[in-house]
This record gives sequence, C-alpha cells and structure tokens, in this order.
Amino acid sequence: MTIDLVNKIGIPRHVAVIMDGNGRWAQKHGNERIFGHRQGVESVRSIVEGAGELGVEYLTLYAFSTENWDRPKEEVNALMALLVDAVVQEIDNLNEKNVKMLVIGNLCCFPTEVESKLTEAIQSTSKNTGLKLILGLSYSGRWDILEAVKKISLEVKIGGIEVADVDEKFFSNCLSTSGIPDPELLIRTSGEFRISNFLLWQLAYSEFYFSNILWPDFRKENLFEAIVDFQNRERRFGKTSEQIRS
Ligand code: FPP
Repeated sequence: MTIDLVNKIGIPRHVAVIMDGNGRWAQKHGNERIFGHRQGVESVRSIVEGAGELGVEYLTLYAFSTENWDRPKEEVNALMALLVDAVVQEIDNLNEKNVKMLVIGNLCCFPTEVESKLTEAIQSTSKNTGLKLILGLSYSGRWDILEAVKKISLEVKIGGIEVADVDEKFFSNCLSTSGIPDPELLIRTSGEFRISNFLLWQLAYSEFYFSNILWPDFRKENLFEAIVDFQNRERRFGKTSEQIRS
C-alpha cells in the first residue's frame, strides 16, 4: 500500500511492533537463523523511514526479550554482534532523519561493548526532534512492572509517598516508558497471536494487528496497511458505540 492511501488525520502517535519470524524466514531460505535476523535489520530501516514519513511520534520495537537470553549461546552472541553493527551503522542515518533513539529494558545485562555502543547512539541522537525510536532490549512487561513495584514500595517505605498516592498515572510514570503515551497500535508479524511479555501494562487499550508476513519481508508499505486497518476501527475504551459516536 502506498502512503497516499493513509489518512493523515488519525495517525497513531505510538506504534509498537513485535518483530517475529526471522528464524522461519532464514529456514525458508535454507540458511542459519542469524541470516534472518540480519535481513530483519532491513525491515527495521524501512519501517523507521515509513513511520517518520507518516509523522508517527513513537515507534517501539521489541528487539530482544528477557526470555531471548535463553536461546542457544551462539544465536545470542550473533544477535549482540548484529545489534552493535546495526546501531553503529545507523547512527548517521538516524541523525539525518532526525530520529531520536531510546532504549527500554535491563541494559545492565548486556556485554560492555553493546551497552557502550547503545549509549553512544542514544547520546548522539538525543537532540533530534522527530520520530522517537524505542528499542526494547532485554525487555519484558513483567520485568517492567516488577521494577515499578519495587520503586514504589521503596518510596512508601521511606515515607516519600502514601499508598493512596499510587494511581494509574503514578504507576505509569514509574515504568520504563514514563512520559511516553501508550501505543494505540500493536503490530505482530509472522502469523503468531501472542503478546509474549511485551508492554503488558501499556497495551491495555491498544488495537492489535496481526500480519502473516515474516519480519524480514515486512516493509513500510505493510506498516501503511496496518495503519489504514487501524483507522477503520472503532475504539470504544469500554464505552458503547452510541456513546463514542455522539
Ligand atoms: C524474532 O524472530 C526476532 C528477534 C528475536 C530479534 C529481532 C532482531 C532484529 C530484527 C535485528 C536487530 C534489530 C534492531 C532494532 C537493529 P524469531 O527469531 O523468534 O523468529 P522465529 O519465530 O521464526 O524463530
């Protein structure tokens, strides 16, 4: 689908993506799994570009989950190397496109080189004012919620806040996505219908879009398609259709 078919009114501010199917794509092409991950970087490039063209404000990509650490060691190592390469290679491109890169997740788990390259990219793009590209790395929704619960418990313990102060807004601000609006749209590729421990709190009222396309074949035209689908939905937030229409 071409960009002119997307209604410029009603573009979601925040799109989140579970990039799935790299392994199967590689297998389909008679190759090692890492070949699929490598090809997946091309898809990342394309949808970052597409999201920027549409004026999406936040794009969150689930690049490495807490559970991904349990994959075979050589796949984890290869993914780390790929991540460093991709980030280093993309810095100029991100700056050129005015994209600000951010990371959510437990960064301490990463090898020092990966952590320092990521920090370098975050710093180098920090003044950009366009699309915010948020990478979920060593991220999981349960980890995020538990970290927030720990912060809040500690605050209550030292008397900084009262239990009664903890409402939805307060809790949201204790998550790693503090200050970032909840995604209006979640896309998952590869024909799987799961949330896989992604943004559990933040996706409470998101629209879900499932695509059969394997991530390495996903391009910005597919993102446009997902957004048009989203634009044709009625979001009721627990209310009735009549209430929404009036
Ligand atoms: C899921 O496919 C994909 C991943 C676990 C890694 C995603 C990483 C990239 C696309 C490359 C680097 C990303 C950035 C942001 C530069 P899978 O391996 O679970 O596929 P399968 O379900 O077919 O096995």
